[in-house]
Amino acid sequence: MIYLSTILIFILIITLIAFFLYYFLLKNKRIFSTFSDADINNKIKENENFLKIYKNILQQVTDGIAVIDENKNIIFVNSSFRKNIRSGLSDNVNKFEFLTRNYELNNIINKIIENNDSNTIEKKISYFDKADEKIVSCKIFKINETKYFAVIIRDITYIQKIENIKSAFIQNISHEIKTPITAITGFIETLKNGALDNRETAIKFFNIIDHHAKRLNSLIDDLIVLTNIETGGASLKIEEIDPINIIENSLQLFESEIRAKNLKITKNLDDITFFSDFSKINQIIINMLQNSIKYTEHNGKISIDLYFETNSGVNNIIADLSETSIVWGTIDSNADNFLYISVEDTGIGVSYPNLLRLGERFFRVDSSHSTDPGGTGLGLAIIKHILKLLNGTAILQSSLGNGFTFTVLIPQTGISSLNSKDNNSIMPA
Ligand SMILES: Nc1ncnc2c1ncn2[C@@H]1O[C@H](COP(=O)(O)OP(=O)(O)O)[C@@H](O)[C@H]1O
Ligand SMILES: [Mg+2]
Repeated sequence: MIYLSTILIFILIITLIAFFLYYFLLKNKRIFSTFSDADINNKIKENENFLKIYKNILQQVTDGIAVIDENKNIIFVNSSFRKNIRSGLSDNVNKFEFLTRNYELNNIINKIIENNDSNTIEKKISYFDKADEKIVSCKIFKINETKYFAVIIRDITYIQKIENIKSAFIQNISHEIKTPITAITGFIETLKNGALDNRETAIKFFNIIDHHAKRLNSLIDDLIVLTNIETGGASLKIEEIDPINIIENSLQLFESEIRAKNLKITKNLDDITFFSDFSKINQIIINMLQNSIKYTEHNGKISIDLYFETNSGVNNIIADLSETSIVWGTIDSNADNFLYISVEDTGIGVSYPNLLRLGERFFRVDSSHSTDPGGTGLGLAIIKHILKLLNGTAILQSSLGNGFTFTVLIPQTGISSLNSKDNNSIMPA
């Protein structure tokens, strides 16, 4: 009997142990886990923290990032995305198409979702934002082994603009260089084929070759100047300069043309000292004078004015301008004094539509009806570029057949040194 009850107790104990093992070890596997409840809670918190960190970082990146599910519900969207796709909508918009309101982008998304496409689609999308064309590059892809899709966008408007300017510039420059080279090789060929035997024709052709070679040379010179301004432009070398001296020396460069055309030059120059970048002011003055001399016919007049103008004086000048005057740049409101240089000529002038285009690289007024004095169309572009660096302004006044007045106003911030010798000049900051 005792023996039987011992066996029964033994069986009971075995059953209890088996039950215990089943319940705690198999059903509740956690018993094997090395983590306690507190550990698991910490782990969850830690993960939540990481998620916060990632979200925070994604909010800071300049690329726009959005994650959506297969129903186009927004799971995540960073602020750059909203900015780049001009969405001023509040956070509670939860459908992707309402967030972007961009037909092209939504179309791509629809196709990817429909086809469950796991390829990455890359596309440039353009749209108008406050009348300005914006271009964004989009990368759209299904996130591996999930039902989510990511849309990454980058604003490439500026890069695209630079690319366009670069290709237009290369195209223009190739054309500008090709034209004289074609003329030179063409006339050499004609000379070789017999024109050399006729002295008179030969001289005529050599003169044409000479003209084109010179044009090529000045084109390269202007390009070097323009590139130097662009690359070394930021580093202005400010020193005391003497504008009268610059004007006199520049006029000497064109002495033979002035004499040959019998141009009458009137000068109204105040003896002033100015602090600026000598080579850049020199470049402006040379180009201004060169144009007035080049585009003024025989017996014409050129008048040069130079003086200091106050801020309010400059503002009055701008306020009094006629509607057909063109102004490049704005008036620097921080400057007390401005260097005022104006070159007025009685030359051929420029019609209003063409006046609007001056300063564009390689733009020259079509002179097929008159004798073209030759040029590169870079002189005014150079002036415009320098003025930007010096925070200066230009005023262009002209009409066809009625001469041209080109004025520059260059601010002298914090420095003044007025008329002649009684200067109580302050040195540049
Ligand atoms: N004083 C001026 N009178 C008439 N036309 C001018 C004058 N200055 C500039 N222009 C016009 O502007 C164009 C661009 O000038 P610029 O950039 O200096 O190039 P370039 O003188 O080499 O042709 C000239 O080709 C000319 O048609
Ligand atoms: Mg010129």
